[in-house]
Formats: sequence, C-alpha cells, structure tokens
Amino acid sequence: MGTLLHIDSSPRGENSSSRLLASTFIAAWKENHPDDHVIYRDLRNTCIPHITEEWIAADFTPMNALTAEARQVLELSDILVDEFLAADRCLYSVPMYNFGIPSSFKAYIDNLVRFGRTFTSDHGCYQGLAKDKKVLFITARGVEYGSNSPYHGWDAQEPGLRYAFQFIGVSDISFIHACGLDLGEASRRSSIDKAKGEVMSFLSSW
Ligand SMILES: Cc1cc2nc3c(=O)[nH]c(=O)nc-3n(C[C@H](O)[C@H](O)[C@H](O)COP(=O)(O)O)c2cc1C
Repeated sequence: MGTLLHIDSSPRGENSSSRLLASTFIAAWKENHPDDHVIYRDLRNTCIPHITEEWIAADFTPMNALTAEARQVLELSDILVDEFLAADRCLYSVPMYNFGIPSSFKAYIDNLVRFGRTFTSDHGCYQGLAKDKKVLFITARGVEYGSNSPYHGWDAQEPGLRYAFQFIGVSDISFIHACGLDLGEASRRSSIDKAKGEVMSFLSSW
C-alpha cells in the first residue's frame, strides 16, 4: 500500500483544465490502487503566506532550540513537509502563469524546501533528503511551446519545478503538459484529449 499526495493549485474551479486532468488521473489511480492512501490538498483553500525574515530564522534554527513563537511560524510549513514526506508519489496540477508557476505554488515550494527536513548541507555542499519519491506535474498552458511557436524556449515552468524538486532530492520527476488551451475551443478540446491519453498511458508505468 502506498501514499499518494495530490495537490491542485489552479485558482479556477470547474473551469480548470489542470484540475480536470489531475482528477482523471486520480480516478484511474484509485481504481487501480484501491488500497492506496490519497492525501489531498487544494491550494485554493490553503493560503500559504510568503516566507518572512522570522520564517527564515526559524528554518535555520535547530529543532530543539526553537521558541514557541518560532515553532508557530513554521507550523504550516511543517504540515506541508510532513504530508510531502509521508507520500511515495506526488501529483501536482499546476497552471502556467507568466511562463512560470502561480505564486500560490511558489509559496508552497518555498515552504517545502526546509533546512534539515527536505535538504541539508555539508560544508557548503547541499544534499536533498526527499529520496525514493516519484513526482508528476500536470501542467495547463494557454499557448503552444513547440518549435513552430513564437514562445518556443520561453518555458520557465518545467525547469523551475525540476530544479526545486531535484534540490530536495527527488530524481524521478515527470511532466504531462496540456498546451494550447486558450487558442479556441477546438484547440482546447484536442489538447485535453491528448493530455488525457498521456495520463492513461503514464499511469501503468508509474
Ligand atoms: C494570470 C494568468 C497568466 C497566464 N500566463 C500564461 C503564460 O505565461 N503562458 C501560457 O501558455 N498561458 C498562460 N496563461 C493561460 C493559462 O495557463 C491557461 O488558461 C491554463 O488553462 C490555466 O490552467 P487552469 O485551466 O488549470 O486554471 C495565463 C493565465 C492567467 C490567468
């Protein structure tokens, strides 16, 4: 029995393509893995604050030296890290915003990358602590990024996500991108169908 962490980050609800694709994935996953435990978090309902000076100071303070106030500063971050570390697989659905990720998901990452919990350092050499974990990102994008697109090479989303999760030790990172969602209804439908197909074939190998 495994544990799958599923996090949606689009501020849209029913109209969100990334949520739709993630829910397709989860429905099939639950059918194939009925005994798995699924932890779900919706970033629409979890307001993750930007990190502060107090947060940074608390992050770099040894656990046994934390004051009650500092513990409180890290409280939400601790919950997010706990559920991440409890999972052997993580599915994140993430819209593309301004060629990167929404600020809500950036705040999530900033709270996940924690000294002594998800990474450490030995004489200035950083080491990720979140090993043996698989991460899948399902992204939703308004335009295309192929070689014929004027936006080819503008994708700062996949590299940013890859580096952040590699930094904390994850080596098994996959992406399913649904592109061209805002280029008219026909393009949206065919992009969703294509991504659903990728989701279904990805499932069996994950
Ligand atoms: C604030 C904002 C910024 C966006 N920036 C981009 C962008 O840089 N590149 C892109 O391809 N699409 C962009 N889009 C389009 C979204 O990625 C697209 O609508 C996608 O479907 C959003 O995911 P969702 O349907 O799950 O909410 C943007 C949309 C919004 C609302």
